[in-house]
Amino acid sequence: MRKPSEHLSLFSDRRKRLADKMSGSALIVAAHPEMIRNHDVHHSYRQDTNLYYLTGFEEPESILLFRPGMTPESIMFVRKKNRERETWDGFRFGPEGTEQEFKIDKVYPIEEFEKVATESLKGVESLYYRFYKNPSVDAKVQNILEGLSRSQGRTGYGLLSVHDADELLGELRVVKTDGDLKNLRRACEISAEAHIEVMRATKPGINERELHGLFIYETAKRGSAREGYGGIFAGGNNATTLHYVFNDQNLKSGDLFLVDAGAESNYFTGDITRTYPVNGKFTDDQAEVYEGVLKIQKKLIDHVKPGVLFQEFHDMGAALLTDLMLELGLLSGRKEDIIKANEHRKYYPHGIGHFLGMDVHDAGLYFKKNVKEPRPIEEGMVFTIEPGIYIPADDNSVAKNYRGIGIRIEDNILVTAKGSENMTFKAPKEIADLEKVIGSN
Ligand code: GLY
Ligand code: MN
Ligand code: MN
Repeated sequence: MRKPSEHLSLFSDRRKRLADKMSGSALIVAAHPEMIRNHDVHHSYRQDTNLYYLTGFEEPESILLFRPGMTPESIMFVRKKNRERETWDGFRFGPEGTEQEFKIDKVYPIEEFEKVATESLKGVESLYYRFYKNPSVDAKVQNILEGLSRSQGRTGYGLLSVHDADELLGELRVVKTDGDLKNLRRACEISAEAHIEVMRATKPGINERELHGLFIYETAKRGSAREGYGGIFAGGNNATTLHYVFNDQNLKSGDLFLVDAGAESNYFTGDITRTYPVNGKFTDDQAEVYEGVLKIQKKLIDHVKPGVLFQEFHDMGAALLTDLMLELGLLSGRKEDIIKANEHRKYYPHGIGHFLGMDVHDAGLYFKKNVKEPRPIEEGMVFTIEPGIYIPADDNSVAKNYRGIGIRIEDNILVTAKGSENMTFKAPKEIADLEKVIGSN
């Protein structure tokens, strides 16, 4: 049985904060559909982030209908109890159990969603719902909108207006509460500790997959249910593929090893990257590029404080990394011209970071709505800072000694009142510290 894993007030507090932002409106949030992996095997199921965020409920085929200020205010639709299905697939709370255990005002069987929601939405001014995440619920919501419209007879009123629920919830999620931060801190801690265990087990000849397995094991041992995204365990030139997911090669002495991995704690995830030598000792060339990237990362982290525009970190990152590429002779010309022509993207093709929370690339607006102006960062926001340089092994335009080097260093940074807190400080990144840990098992 998967009882609510956290104190229920965390979820009801979130619903209260949400209520203040949507007066007169209602919200529908649905579970993701279950996905077939092959034949009759499903992918392991993870609840839709927003549905978990507001309820703590983890079963598929469930929907929340939230009507602040009305009675009942929180309504859910869930699978009925079913002895046979529960024998095969596991426990279900059923409507009664969900009402009791999750403190939801009223819970119905999922089959009654269309009928009950059509009645329950009468009188609301608008609806928040995100289309295109669950096609079968989309079809039901369309029927509900049409049913509501018909029920208005010949009044001339149009369809209930629908706004994007994910945008509304994204803005709620982008500034973390103390409850959020407790979970996120734990996710960062678990992830950092597992990175250290992977460093300790790294040695020439070991397979990337073994170390990926070790990461998952070490985080599971510390209470994590799953990774926050598919970990990247990339030896040598594999690190120049940004989202390398094969993780099936043997590590070679003399190569670097890039590990980008993070684990969840109560649906919040860490997102850490460390890069270090397979044999435990940086070559001079590797150290030169590594120190360059590390210096840039520290400079960017030092720049974090409330009020700075998020866009500034992207611009600063691009400028500093371009300086480094010029120093290393990867590019030539004037820095400004290189950036204007996007030439630096040849070796640094991603952004400097992203919001982090329950989704690895978390919700929240990066630009002010409508005016499209960059947004200043605020206390309580968390984002990654992850500069990198990737030099493919077959790039003949670069000196041989740098080819096949892919380096990224990524930490998770909380904006505090006066500056920042590095939530992933536990994972070593100084060369001397790394060299002490690598292969020390
Ligand atoms: N792990 C994906 C990222 O760093 O954005
Ligand atoms: Mn990241
Ligand atoms: Mn990452």
